[in-house]
Parts: sequence; C-alpha cells; structure tokens
Amino acid sequence: MKLTVIGCGYLGATHAACMAELGHDVLGVDVDAEKVARLQAGEVPFFEPGLSDVLRRNLAAGRLRFTTDHREAADFASVHFLGVGTPQLRRGYGVDLSHVEAAVDALTPLVRGEHLIIGKSTVPVGTAAALAQRIAVLAAPDAHIELVWSPEFLREGFAVEDTLDPDRLVLGTDPNRADGPAAQVLGEIYREILASGVPFIQTDWATAELVKVSANAFLATKISFINAVSEICENVGADVSTLADAIGYDNRIGRRFLNAGLGFGGGCLPKDIRGFLARADEVGAGRALRFLREVDAINTRRRAALVDLVAEAVGGDVLGANIAILGAAFKPESDDVRDSPALNVAGQLSLRGATVTVFDPKATANSRRLYPTLEYADSAVHACDQADAVVVATEWAEFVHMLPEELSDVVRARVIVDGRRCLDAAAWQAAGWQLHALGGPMRPTVSHFPTDPTPGADPVAPEIARPRA
Ligand code: UDX
Repeated sequence: MKLTVIGCGYLGATHAACMAELGHDVLGVDVDAEKVARLQAGEVPFFEPGLSDVLRRNLAAGRLRFTTDHREAADFASVHFLGVGTPQLRRGYGVDLSHVEAAVDALTPLVRGEHLIIGKSTVPVGTAAALAQRIAVLAAPDAHIELVWSPEFLREGFAVEDTLDPDRLVLGTDPNRADGPAAQVLGEIYREILASGVPFIQTDWATAELVKVSANAFLATKISFINAVSEICENVGADVSTLADAIGYDNRIGRRFLNAGLGFGGGCLPKDIRGFLARADEVGAGRALRFLREVDAINTRRRAALVDLVAEAVGGDVLGANIAILGAAFKPESDDVRDSPALNVAGQLSLRGATVTVFDPKATANSRRLYPTLEYADSAVHACDQADAVVVATEWAEFVHMLPEELSDVVRARVIVDGRRCLDAAAWQAAGWQLHALGGPMRPTVSHFPTDPTPGADPVAPEIARPRA
C-alpha cells in the first residue's frame, strides 16, 4: 500500500520507517530540508535504538523516501499519516497546534479524489472536529477527504518495538460518519500486526483523542503517587522501593511505573498533563482534573528535593563545590533533554554556585544547546574528577552497573547521591562511599518469596534493572 507520513520528527520518522518495514511504500514529508536530507541519507537525527537499521534497510529496498514537497505527497498516495509535533504553548498550559494546522493547510488544497488523513499526534480533545471543518473549507471541489484519529503510544527508547508490536490500536472517526472506509484501510495497513491479536478499538474522534492524554495522565499520576509516598518515607525512614515492590504484587496495582526518584520529564508526560488540564478548563470540566496540578507539583518538587539532598550531602551548601551529574537525558536510551529532570537539577546546582560537570552517554550535544554554561565531560570518570559529590540523575545501565572502585580514586569525597534509586546501595557503602538516596533509605530486600521460576530475576519486571543488595 502507498502511504505518506507528514512530519518526520521523532514520531513521524519512526512511523515512516516502521510502515515501510511492514512492506508499504512510504513517502515521508517534512518542511525541514536538512532533516529530510539526513533521513534520505539513512541518518536518524536523534538517538533511538534500532531505528537506523530499519530506516536504512527500507531506504535500500526502495520502499521509503523523504521529501519536502507536499504536492509530491498528494500525488503519491491517498492515505496520509499526520505525525507533526504538538508542543506546549510558550505561554500557558495549552497545546500549540500550529504545526498540525500548517500540515493540514499545506496538503488539503493539493489533493484530488478520495483521500484519508490519519492523525497520530497527541492533540486536545476536539482537535479532529475542528480540523475537519478546516479541511472542508480548504479542499478542492473534486476532493473528498476523510479525517480520522489514531493516537500513537510509543515510548522513546522502545519506539520501533512499540510501533511494530503495540499494546493496542485505536481509531477514532467522525461520529456522524462512522461507516466510512477508514477502519478497513487501517485494517489493511496494520494487517500483520492485527493478525497477532492486537486489540483494535474503534470509536469516535473525541474518545480516541482522550484515550491518549488519559493514558499519559494515568502514568504521570502513578509516578507522582509513588513519589508522594516517598516524601513520607523520607520523613519516617521507610524504604519506598521495597514498598513499591510490595504493593506492586497486587495485580490491580502492578509494579511498573512505580519507580520513585527524580520523576518524569520528556516531551510527552509533562506537556500532556498540562494540555489536558487546559482543555478541561475550556470544556467547563476544570474541576475534574484539578488533581493533575498536584501530580505536576509533586513531580517538580522532586527536582528541588534532589538539589537539597545534594547540598546536605556536601555539608549544607553547594557554593564552590564540584558536583558531577551522571545523566542528562530525561530517561535512559534516549538523547532527548526536553524538560529533563537531570538537567534541571544540574542548572539549579549551578545557580547555587556549584561547579557542575555533566556526563551523558548520548545527550551531551543536545544538553550543550540547552545549557551551554554547564561543563561537559566525555566519560563518567572524567565528570567525577575531583568531585565533592556524584549525582546519578538518569539511570543509564552504565551508571547502574558502575563499580564504586572505578570512581573511588578520582573523586575528592566518596559521596554519591542516587536520584533514581538505581544503585546497589550496599556495594557502594561497602566500598567506603556515603550514599544518599532520593526518596528515603534503600534497604536490602530481605525476602521476596517469589513464585518466579528464574532465581535472581525480578519477579515484578520493573522498568529499570534495579540491583538490590
Ligand atoms: C510516554 C508514554 O509512556 C508513551 O506511551 C507516550 O506515547 C509518550 O509518553 P516517554 O515520554 O517516551 O513515553 O517516556 P516514559 O517511558 O513514559 O517515561 C516518562 C518519564 O517518567 C521519564 O522521565 C522516566 O524517567 C519517568 N519514570 C518512568 C519515572 O520517574 N518512574 C517510573 O516508574 C517510570
């Protein structure tokens, strides 16, 4: 099948490559000529495990190419995915829909005959209905365009896997025209995926739009819930990680997304909860989502709490102290630094007069652009040279599995602050390090009596490998 993907940023580039991987002929379209040139040359403009292999394989097979020309897109295919960015507005909590509108405005007047536009971007409820009206005004008399919404749920770091093996597919159509051909077309596009039994939920525009923001709001709430509990644990000396394991064994709760620590960041969860709040206000239901303000506040508070913990760890004041920050990306396996908790903490420590040196395995270039005044090192060991405290702010595997001995002789003081509760506390303490963990003490887990058959495996499959003493 012939498809276009309009917008070749994180979502669109992944989607275009994965659709080609499913055997479709795909044309990716983006207004950024440099991005298009890089993708066409087989270069992924961001870090995403496995994506460059998929991109190159499909470019070589002739199933995938990229252009800046919307006319080419209108002529190439009659099915168009829309995957442009929907960032937070510069002012306020609302969502900036200018890229979505620009994409629709660029494509619509050029198409002739029957076309299907499948929106994938995360948008406030009501967007599809408004865009459909826009399309009706802009479309040529001999064009018939159906607009549907099929939100994308992929996680950075797992983008290829999540696109090719999703938990579910959601399709929202015009409630007044539910019998259009969209479901059949989507069924054909995703035939291979649907054959493996993936649930396919067909609904109206508004429900589909809300599914995505509700899912992200729920995930954010889960993280802030455990971080709120960790504030209690800090005050009474309890271990929130063991607590999370224990409540996570209840199937109704589940252990995933209960890792306490520095909280969530990135291009999705923070802006999605704020956009959801803003839209709830607009539709007269602001009260319903008031709790999301608290979810956001708990999350932001964790950043200040880590800064305070670092200050405490170096004796009360970071002024003049050398602080090494390990991790800058908002999470491991990503070079994304949008709303990164790690960089926010690095910036706050620098404002308080510390000399901050950051190391991240993939996100240094992006960090430099955002925080040019911080120091950057090319390895964890170099970042820790003469450090008064080492802070783990993103749980990259190389930090989780780092041996204390690697750093013991380079630092000025053996002080480590675990902002992600990902270290083997006992191992660091045994090597003579003072370990401070955000969210209260980390105790050895005494007894999981798991039914898990593999000894040593984590019976509750947390998102990160968390070695426990
Ligand atoms: C999220 C959603 O998971 C995905 O479905 C949606 O399509 C886009 O937004 P992503 O932003 O890639 O994906 O990251 P995710 O893995 O959800 O992590 C978000 C943040 O929460 C990260 O900063 C992570 O460090 C943090 N987190 C996650 C925690 O603090 N604790 C946890 O237990 C889990």
